[in-house]
Amino acid sequence: MCGKTQDQANATEQDSAAVASEIGGSGTKPNPSSLAPVNLDHGDPTAYETYWSKVGERSTITFTGDQSLSYFANAKNLCWFLEPKLEEEIRRLHHVVGNAKVDDHFIIVGNGSSQLIQAALYAVSPSDQPQPTSVVSAAPYYSAYQEVADLLRSGLYKWGGDAYSFNKDEPYIEMVTSPNNPCGMTREPVVNRPQGKIIHDLAYYWPHYTPITSQVDYDIMLFTVSKCTGHAGSRIGWALVRDKDVARKMVDLMVISTIGVSKESQLRAAKILGVISDSCLLDKSPGLENFFEYAQHLMAARWEKLREIVKVNELFSLTEYPSEYCLFTKEFTEARPAFAWMSCKSDMEDIEKILRGHKILARGGKRFGSDPKYVRISMLSRDQEFNLFLERLSSIHGITSGN
Ligand SMILES: Cc1ncc(COP(=O)(O)O)c(C=O)c1O
Repeated sequence: MCGKTQDQANATEQDSAAVASEIGGSGTKPNPSSLAPVNLDHGDPTAYETYWSKVGERSTITFTGDQSLSYFANAKNLCWFLEPKLEEEIRRLHHVVGNAKVDDHFIIVGNGSSQLIQAALYAVSPSDQPQPTSVVSAAPYYSAYQEVADLLRSGLYKWGGDAYSFNKDEPYIEMVTSPNNPCGMTREPVVNRPQGKIIHDLAYYWPHYTPITSQVDYDIMLFTVSKCTGHAGSRIGWALVRDKDVARKMVDLMVISTIGVSKESQLRAAKILGVISDSCLLDKSPGLENFFEYAQHLMAARWEKLREIVKVNELFSLTEYPSEYCLFTKEFTEARPAFAWMSCKSDMEDIEKILRGHKILARGGKRFGSDPKYVRISMLSRDQEFNLFLERLSSIHGITSGN
């Protein structure tokens, strides 16, 4: 299980090329023409740009040359590079939304939650084992876990595959992603054996994607601005960590790898999180549309359109989600995940290939430890790309030339 398969290596190269062409050399917006493939392989969260352009000046932040020179943000804090304003806004947002308990937890900021995944793996890996500890996750799992676990061939941990198959009497680390990337389902740990450490990746546990059914209170919880507000480019994630020693070890990794996190990014993230908390509170937000309501409507409308097309299509089907009571919206709602996990009704089909034949790029099930009859499609693109995707999808009928 060490290293990538050739398929994965090729896919990663294609991904990098796709990202480069997607963002353009100067970060310009893509202009999907009728000939170019529509790239929904990445979960690049540009869908909320319109909201942020309406917010305008209220989300602006400026810096002068004499600001933020020091490495330190708060020397008294265990996470000494965490900007106090960001810590304040993270705690406030969790209180406003009610999705996670924050009062008994240390906050550690990272360069995206991607870096915090590495920091958490480092911090919870036992250091006295003869062999690297297995990192597992229930399939279909977020494809980056395997890449992160194996990239450096660490002596501390290694990728152990699908958590459903793990049955050894030894230490293990389970990544639990809820709601799950790629399938959008609510997840619990599945191994449930002694000597396990669990890292809860809650990147999508926000009201626009899923009903908030409880205020979760786990030992290690990872969140990211990328999927919450759409500001993936700021590269800000945070970990809520109960245990001081684990928190300290995570900080050690952050210090050795990047000596902290950009203050400009942290302060921008603090501003953005502040705006969305304000947008939920009537007295603080005259003229400011509730961010979660906006994003929820956008996602619900996209899912409705996609379901209409798939309903009349004889090849494909979509995952269904139960209606659950959301403590934030105080309504029963279904999940509207950031990704559609679409499958082919026939077991024989490679759905990624079929879509590619119709100029739709999406990530095939094999990358998530699943079957090629599944594909993950980002629901977070700009309207223009999403509409082009729907148009192309609705033109696919029966066995196609793409297969
Ligand atoms: C489940 C999950 N965790 C973590 C990440 C990493 O997010 P970032 O590094 O942008 O914070 C992603 C990104 O797609 C994700 O889907």
